[in-house]
Amino acid sequence: TSNQMWGGRFAAGPDAIMEAINASIGYDQRMAAQDIAGSRAHAAMLAKSGIITDSDAKAIREGLLTVLSEIEGGRFEFSTALEDIHMNVEARLKALIGEPAGRLHTGRSRNDQVATDFKLWVRDQLDAAMGGVRALMQALLTQAEAGADWVMPGFTHLQTAQPVTWGHHMMAYVEMFGRDLSRFEDARKRMNESPLGAAALAGTSFPIDRHMTAEALGFDRPAANSLDAVSDRDFALEFLAASSICAMHLSRFAEELVIWSSAQFRFVTLSDRFSTGSSIMPQKKNPDAAELIRAKIGRIFGANTALLMVMKGLPLAYSKDMQEDKEQVFDAADNLMLALAAMEGMVKDMTANRESLEAAAGSGFSTATDLADWLVRALNMPFRDAHHVTGSLVAMAESRSCDLPDLTLEDMQSVHAAITADVFEVLGVHNSVASRVSFGGTAPEQVRAQVARWKGVVG
Ligand code: ARG
Repeated sequence: TSNQMWGGRFAAGPDAIMEAINASIGYDQRMAAQDIAGSRAHAAMLAKSGIITDSDAKAIREGLLTVLSEIEGGRFEFSTALEDIHMNVEARLKALIGEPAGRLHTGRSRNDQVATDFKLWVRDQLDAAMGGVRALMQALLTQAEAGADWVMPGFTHLQTAQPVTWGHHMMAYVEMFGRDLSRFEDARKRMNESPLGAAALAGTSFPIDRHMTAEALGFDRPAANSLDAVSDRDFALEFLAASSICAMHLSRFAEELVIWSSAQFRFVTLSDRFSTGSSIMPQKKNPDAAELIRAKIGRIFGANTALLMVMKGLPLAYSKDMQEDKEQVFDAADNLMLALAAMEGMVKDMTANRESLEAAAGSGFSTATDLADWLVRALNMPFRDAHHVTGSLVAMAESRSCDLPDLTLEDMQSVHAAITADVFEVLGVHNSVASRVSFGGTAPEQVRAQVARWKGVVG
């Protein structure tokens, strides 16, 4: 229907556009279960506090369960005219139970209602994210344990640096995802305060019991300031920030898997289940899941930035801008869960190619540091001098297109006369990794100790 004052000139068009820009039901219907849980807790509290009758509360609470089953069964007709999930549910409740439905919104506003719904939704996602990270960590631990002593090149600048173990490399990601896990845990603890009963912004004159609804909804306590309770979206931002860091880790790992699965590297073979072929090149087996993880996580960073932008200019308390919080978080959550599951699947299924790893580990003068360390230890040379002597030997090997262990003792002695034959013992990659026993080093025994420790945490 058109506006009373200028309806003659404006037909239905602007109304439809207003409706389109205003409505959130297209996406906030994902919070139906949370909305109904919040309303049921609120109704029970209103009755307990003597604000509505027990029989009205009963009708409301039962009616809401009917609405929920209609929504879950796909038998609910969402209306854009009713704007959002809150009004859609309430209108349906009214149709089902009549007059008592109108008493549900006593001492409450859509402002505290939406904050409550959204918090409950984000809290579920935090739990899901923690589950996904744990599962991925378990898959990494299995890989690390199997290959605790398999050698591979360690890189800096993506240039061969020093040999490390496969287990050590896997455990580096376990450390990263372990921090992600603790960030999600931490965010969950901080966010777990109930906004319900903050009402529009100032609280309410009804004798409500916010502690009761907080407890019923699994919150630790009610939020202490009503203005803050309805205008806080920190909880969503912390979820996005922690998700962004986790996603960044997923993307780094995805990038490594793309490189490692190439014909030039052959470090890993990804399973058929997590690869795709080419419609033209018959030989192709592409790491699409890894590539899509790498690409999709950009959406999570985008959501984090978008919500910061939405919030940064808002005066207290609620502004309709805040309705723009949900789509970003929904999309980020969906993509995070998908990326975690895809990475877990790839890691579980992938085969590390032990021979390729070992062959690559020895190339590129990867034991040059071991040679320098030997000069320090055996000849009591200052490290800087040892570095210089080793550099000359590397240059010699490079000019002959051979590796350090391929040089003869005479070659070595031509650079430094005091070098003896037992230098060759440290030039092997296995000796190299086995010697790195410092705490947190790549020696297999260190790796196994870290695997055991993390199994105690997530195993
Ligand atoms: N759909 C709204 C949102 O998502 C609910 C809150 C509306 N509150 C208001 N004062 N208009 O934010």
